[in-house]
Amino acid sequence: QDSPANHLIQLHEGAQKLYHHILMNTEIGQPALDYLHQRGLTDKTIEDFGLGFAPDQQLLKQYFDQQKVDYQELRHTGLFIENQSGELRDRFFNRVMYPIKNESGQPIAFSGRLLVKVDDQPKYLNSPETDIFNKRRVLFNFDQARNVIRKEGSVILFEGFMDVMSAHQSGVGNGVASMGTSLTEEQIYAMQRVTKQVYVCYDGDTPGQRATNRALTILRDNSSLNLGVIQMPEGMDPDEYRKKYGEEKLASALQSARETPIAFAMHYLKSEHDVNTDAGRLDYIDQVLKLLATVTSPVEQDVYLTQLANDYQLDKGSLKQQLLMIKPKPAKPTRPAPAAAPYSGDYPQAG
Ligand code: CTP
Ligand code: MN
Ligand code: MN
Ligand code: MN
Ligand code: MN
Repeated sequence: QDSPANHLIQLHEGAQKLYHHILMNTEIGQPALDYLHQRGLTDKTIEDFGLGFAPDQQLLKQYFDQQKVDYQELRHTGLFIENQSGELRDRFFNRVMYPIKNESGQPIAFSGRLLVKVDDQPKYLNSPETDIFNKRRVLFNFDQARNVIRKEGSVILFEGFMDVMSAHQSGVGNGVASMGTSLTEEQIYAMQRVTKQVYVCYDGDTPGQRATNRALTILRDNSSLNLGVIQMPEGMDPDEYRKKYGEEKLASALQSARETPIAFAMHYLKSEHDVNTDAGRLDYIDQVLKLLATVTSPVEQDVYLTQLANDYQLDKGSLKQQLLMIKPKPAKPTRPAPAAAPYSGDYPQAG
């Protein structure tokens, strides 16, 4: 088909092939290939994700000029930056290129990573929104993961591209990532179409824990999905864990390090409160009870009430009484609301 959208996709396919070729088969791509190998990615993984390299040249512009691609079309790809006199320059240079694909596996955008962190330059640079790329809708790796998600009965939500690829290389293929922003309703809806169970597996560092809490809240408020958390030990992210302990250990950690959202919230909220003061402790308990009120299983409620009572030498009866005073939340939607204000992104995006 020869629609404008299809043509934009074709241009992205051309760009991906070019970047991939540079990475795999050329001298200028060698440092980037070494970098990926040093991070422990195999050529199979590099192929599966179609990774590439954009060197420090006007490579893509020259490539499309040779093919006599129309100027207006180039502007619409988002792959170029326009200066004041309207000249186009490659947006991506000196970056490892991760293609972002739609659900059919066609590239619709790129994220580029610096080989070496440079001051005042973002580690990751993403394509801007275009006619074919809506950041709110895309989940990285959803095209490859969809069938595995169906088969496994669950999806794992990671923070970063490298975490998804690490899991994939370790034989865990049901991983996806949102694009460096808070989860959106559109992304939740996409997951909900293929599964009932989501595991949030964000980085073990403090920002990752905070983002986990936020993701759980968004998921709870916008879906009827069953939720779980996978906690990476030692403040690591899943990719660092694989690098340190190997693929088998990562695969088994992704199975065994699972906990309920309440268990996560209990230790996360604890870290956010000074439970040694009365006020801090009371506020902590109040927040945990509010969460417990959203749990429908009485047995699960009981387990955590017992734990709270033991941890803080409280009477379980009064905890239960306070729990019953909390109004249950209204039923959760199973479809996204039509239009909503965008969630604010976590990272400033160039372009
Ligand atoms: N991100 C972004 N822009 C940045 C930093 C991060 O878009 N300047 C997004 C990327 O999608 C990234 C994710 O946020 O994958 C998680 O960020 P971070 O944990 O800092 O990066 P890693 O995924 O761990 O990347 P790497 O392992 O390559 O350093
Ligand atoms: Mn190839
Ligand atoms: Mn992180
Ligand atoms: Mn990370
Ligand atoms: Mn990482």
